[in-house]
Amino acid sequence: MKYIKDKNIVIGISGGIAAYKSAELLRLIQKQDANVRVVMTHNAGYFVGPLTFEALSGKPVYTNTFEKGGNTEIRHIQWAEETDAVIVAPATANIIGKIANGIADDALSTFLLAVTCPVLICPSMNTNMYEKISVQRNIEILKKDGYFIVEPASGELACGTSGQGRLPEPEEILDRLIYCLSPKDFKGKKILVTAGPTREHIDPVRYISNPSSGKMGYAIARAAEHRGADVTLVSGPVNLEPPVNITMVNTVSAKDMAKAVFDNMENCDIIIKTAAVSDYRPKEAAKQKIKKGMDEISLVLQKNEDILFELGKNKKNRVLIGFAAETENLEKNAKDKLARKNLDIIVGNLVGERSDEEDDEKSPVFGMDTNKVVFFFRNGDTEHLPLMEKDMVAHALLDRIADLDKG
Ligand code: CTP
Repeated sequence: MKYIKDKNIVIGISGGIAAYKSAELLRLIQKQDANVRVVMTHNAGYFVGPLTFEALSGKPVYTNTFEKGGNTEIRHIQWAEETDAVIVAPATANIIGKIANGIADDALSTFLLAVTCPVLICPSMNTNMYEKISVQRNIEILKKDGYFIVEPASGELACGTSGQGRLPEPEEILDRLIYCLSPKDFKGKKILVTAGPTREHIDPVRYISNPSSGKMGYAIARAAEHRGADVTLVSGPVNLEPPVNITMVNTVSAKDMAKAVFDNMENCDIIIKTAAVSDYRPKEAAKQKIKKGMDEISLVLQKNEDILFELGKNKKNRVLIGFAAETENLEKNAKDKLARKNLDIIVGNLVGERSDEEDDEKSPVFGMDTNKVVFFFRNGDTEHLPLMEKDMVAHALLDRIADLDKG
């Protein structure tokens, strides 16, 4: 991920049962090409030994304030100077109390006093402990002091009870880390994103749809949220976790999607239409399941409203972005749509299996984590991007939108 690549991240582990999840968090952060080191409390070592984290991080684990590194470095000071962000996960009531009150009596609390970078605190404990007035008071102090709190999830706890207090999944903690390290260049902007397919029901158990996974639109919504935008995501039926901290509107048919877009477009600065909207719907959906009978039956289809075309007619000073997945004549088709729908940028790509060498621009884009796209701009400029993770395509698109604003 663009904004945490090559960053120095420290995971601070205190003595809670969820310490085992920190091993997976470490691996996830490493996969983003960031450097990870670990600072542990003595009690954390009862749950997962320092050796585990030393082996995973490939670096010494800092557990003792009074030990010296190879070159007589003072670790809590030197590491603090080199660190771009700290994640305390799990954060027990004890370490939360220490940080809130400036206490430094072990490696982790001393290190945390020395750092000046963003610190994410991930509380994890039994629900009664979490809800205790003193713990809540300390968490409020941390928020006021500028710490970033990743709220614990609700669910079954290791102590056999159920309630709020679970350490969020490592993916969510990583997402919040990326949020903390991303520039907030879209702060104050309201962005509407559409994603996924639509379903046009033929009868209650059958529909016309397409294989859009929604991954591109979700990646854009996530990237925009990371960069400070106020994001609404209008989504067709997909199998994806909703991004954190955005407004979700779930839809099924093109008609639902149109309504959701028109209801939410007011005050939007930017609208990005990634959704693969069905152009037609059955003229009349059967109320009951259609039974097998004749050898041949026909389906009469009726055109759906073109949502983006309607938005383009009433564009005002909104930025409008479309997507065009084509099987042939990408440039011509995409440029036609850009003009017809009054867009600022259209993101084009060729889809389908490659059948010969001339097809080497094609990628089976549906459902993949990567995409090879071309940006066509309103002023006639064209930019070819290499095959990239959809997250990176999302950021590249947001970068170009930010440039439009400057220009
Ligand atoms: N779009 C839309 N409403 C529709 C159809 C498409 O808002 N009813 C939007 C899509 O979200 C996308 C862009 O228009 O951003 C281009 O979609 P596409 O299906 O490629 O274009 P169409 O205009 O439907 O043209 P065709 O199907 O003939 O290629």
